[in-house]
Amino acid sequence: MEKILLRSEAITKRFPLPRKERKPGRTSLLAVDHVSLSIRKGEIYALLGPNGAGKTTSLRMIGSLIAPDEGSIFYENRNINEDLKGYRSKIGFLTAELKQDGFFTPDYLFDFMSELHGIPREVAKERKEMLFQEFGILPFRDKKIDALSSGMKQKASLALALVNDPELIIFDEPTNGLDILGAKAVEDFLRSLRDKGRTILLSTHIFSLVEKLCDRVGILLEGRLAVEGSLEEVRGGGTLEESFFSLLGERRDA
Ligand SMILES: Nc1ncnc2c1ncn2[C@@H]1O[C@H](COP(=O)(O)OP(=O)(O)OP(=O)(O)O)[C@@H](O)[C@H]1O
Ligand SMILES: [Mg+2]
Repeated sequence: MEKILLRSEAITKRFPLPRKERKPGRTSLLAVDHVSLSIRKGEIYALLGPNGAGKTTSLRMIGSLIAPDEGSIFYENRNINEDLKGYRSKIGFLTAELKQDGFFTPDYLFDFMSELHGIPREVAKERKEMLFQEFGILPFRDKKIDALSSGMKQKASLALALVNDPELIIFDEPTNGLDILGAKAVEDFLRSLRDKGRTILLSTHIFSLVEKLCDRVGILLEGRLAVEGSLEEVRGGGTLEESFFSLLGERRDA
């Protein structure tokens, strides 16, 4: 069996409900409910689920942006809390919620982040040219972030998430807002990262991407991991979409 790179053990996150939504005995929303998932080294793992299922919250916990209320996360069998700094140096995180300073340019931000990570200048420069080429950032590398379209911002965010050449790449909806060329570039790039031995955990609503690209799949429903397995296992002989809907207990229109 392949080696497990990362696993979460019953991670749970509650958010306090706004005062007017609280009821006796219900003061918080259970966004992620004891989720235990495992990511194997060198695979592309897709987290699927309807809006509000808890994908982003799970990824933010795994990315160590927020701490779980309960449960733990292990990277190479070590609790990430034992060495958060070391863990963060090995991962790359992409989220639509990433705040970027609009006054700066993709070029400047890439250099700045490289320095924060202590990456040698020559290495950083080469990586920047490669990523900017790959994601089609060259035409707007010197424009202020504020002046970019949302797809351009997404491309810049993708490159910035890879500044430290991470072992584990955590991408929340990586193709969000991208045109077909951008989406294809991301798909090809993720595949090339896997070929280089990198591990990728992503969330998406695009089933065709998962069918083409991913090795294993987890489906979150209302904060719980309803199923996890290889693409084949989760498909169960049909399409991914069919098993998704049958899990949801809904019927598709003929
Ligand atoms: N910071 C927060 N404060 C309060 N509630 C939150 C917060 N973040 C998420 N939630 C709630 O937690 C639940 C899970 O949200 P989450 O963003 O993880 O879902 P998601 O699966 O990523 O959905 P989507 O597909 O829409 O991106 C939702 O009910 C959401 O309203
Ligand atoms: Mg989300």
